[in-house]
Amino acid sequence: MTVYFIGAGPGDPELITVKGQRLIRSCPVIIYAGSLVPAAVLEGHQAETVVNSAELHLEQIIELIKTAHAKGQDVARVHSGDPSLYGAIGEQIRYLRELNIPFEIVPGVTATAACAALLGAELTLPDVSQSVILTRYADKTAMPAGEELGSLAQHGATMAIHLGVHHLEKILTELLPHYGADCPIAVIHRATWPDQDWVVGTLEDIAAKVAAKGFRRTALILVGRVLGSEVFSESSLYRAGHAHLYRP
Ligand SMILES: C[S@@+](CC[C@H](N)C(=O)[O-])C[C@H]1O[C@@H](n2cnc3c(N)ncnc32)[C@H](O)[C@@H]1O
Repeated sequence: MTVYFIGAGPGDPELITVKGQRLIRSCPVIIYAGSLVPAAVLEGHQAETVVNSAELHLEQIIELIKTAHAKGQDVARVHSGDPSLYGAIGEQIRYLRELNIPFEIVPGVTATAACAALLGAELTLPDVSQSVILTRYADKTAMPAGEELGSLAQHGATMAIHLGVHHLEKILTELLPHYGADCPIAVIHRATWPDQDWVVGTLEDIAAKVAAKGFRRTALILVGRVLGSEVFSESSLYRAGHAHLYRP
């Protein structure tokens, strides 16, 4: 018996991995994060137990897993995007280790990747930014010292801010001194869902654009000069005359 933490991807049911889909279709128990995992991802399942974890607290989820374990039933624990990011799998894994219940993590397409795809953007352009900071707005979960937005912004790297659209004004105030008012920023709402929508602007005008759209939740903020930049060097990898192992 194994608990499979499965990344469901950002919304589009075609963006789950083949492995994740196979496990969902074969596990007798499915526990899925219903707030962000679309029902279509569960299509074709044969499970006898299907539970939406949005309605449960941690101990109730662990009880379900313990019951499945006692029956020798595999569990598909389905999380949105990639489970390793803001998926709250760490606390479940801690229990599973204590209980000696085996588990495996099946990665998924994270929201940042889906949003970059939607914008047609590369998040790491030579000379512009070679790092991507994945972070969140601190609301109920406090940010550890040194990870405040203003502090991360000092790097000027591409940044993906989760769980923050509701606090956009505060976020912009923290980013502005480091990125500058003309820095491109995009807010992507429910990327890859049928009702996906987004706006692109600058730190100066994005708040008005987002207010006009009315995005309140399930939106990612992507900021950085890689967005819309045409000024960058070509990679060494594909440069004619640059020899390497596969192109001596
Ligand atoms: C609890 S986090 C889960 C992140 C998820 N594990 C991942 O890898 O994408 C939820 C936040 O991720 C972002 N998010 C998740 N899915 C999204 C989507 N389809 N479009 C835009 N943002 C999304 C939003 O910021 C949302 O508030």
